[in-house]
Amino acid sequence: MKITYYGHACVGVATETTNLLFDPFISPNEQAKHIDVNAVPADYILLSHGHGDHVADALTIAQRTQAKLVSNYEIVSWYEGKHNYSNHHPMNHGGSWQFDFGKVRYTTAIHSSSLPDGTYGGNPGGFVVETPEGNFYFAGDTALTYDMKLIPLFTKLNFAFLPIGDNFTMGIDEAVVAADFIGCKTIIGIHYDTFGFIKIDHEAAKAKFAAAGCQLILLNIGESINL
Ligand code: NI
Ligand code: MN
Repeated sequence: MKITYYGHACVGVATETTNLLFDPFISPNEQAKHIDVNAVPADYILLSHGHGDHVADALTIAQRTQAKLVSNYEIVSWYEGKHNYSNHHPMNHGGSWQFDFGKVRYTTAIHSSSLPDGTYGGNPGGFVVETPEGNFYFAGDTALTYDMKLIPLFTKLNFAFLPIGDNFTMGIDEAVVAADFIGCKTIIGIHYDTFGFIKIDHEAAKAKFAAAGCQLILLNIGESINL
């Protein structure tokens, strides 16, 4: 699978057949000015929760690509009711759905979730995605939680996107424990460096993961890797 980092918590994962886009926040991100939001591919847009730093570009990308929105019931209902965007799939915690590209489970996240106009955004979540090419976890914004231990009971992960910026989510030390809880040694960091509250020391963060026998991958904005 080809992974592209668009900054903050926004990543694209391309399988052989499908472009998945998570938590698009590109045009308001000063650090992502070199990314053309009108060129970002998406067949599905998966939204972990309603905060602006996760949904800012969701509607414009969806309208251009006609991508299917996947999120909790409250968020997809808001896109239908407020923005008349009806190509969506509602989920809630613990539930899975078989899409054409693979299976998605909406997982617990310890955070909050309101939409940009103040509307209640349901409870925040993350996604476990199983595809024929491999499985991964996109944690969304979350604290470290024991619920993460449930993931490897059902899914063997090849890699995971974990927030590492601290203050609004777990930080490095908790993310190292999260990697253990989910049984995954290849971690791609998200939700760091974008604002003053979440600046991290890259080398120190990588060293802490390495000491735990894991690899922390920190991509440049616009960079792609294959995993
Ligand atoms: Ni948030
Ligand atoms: Mn956030």
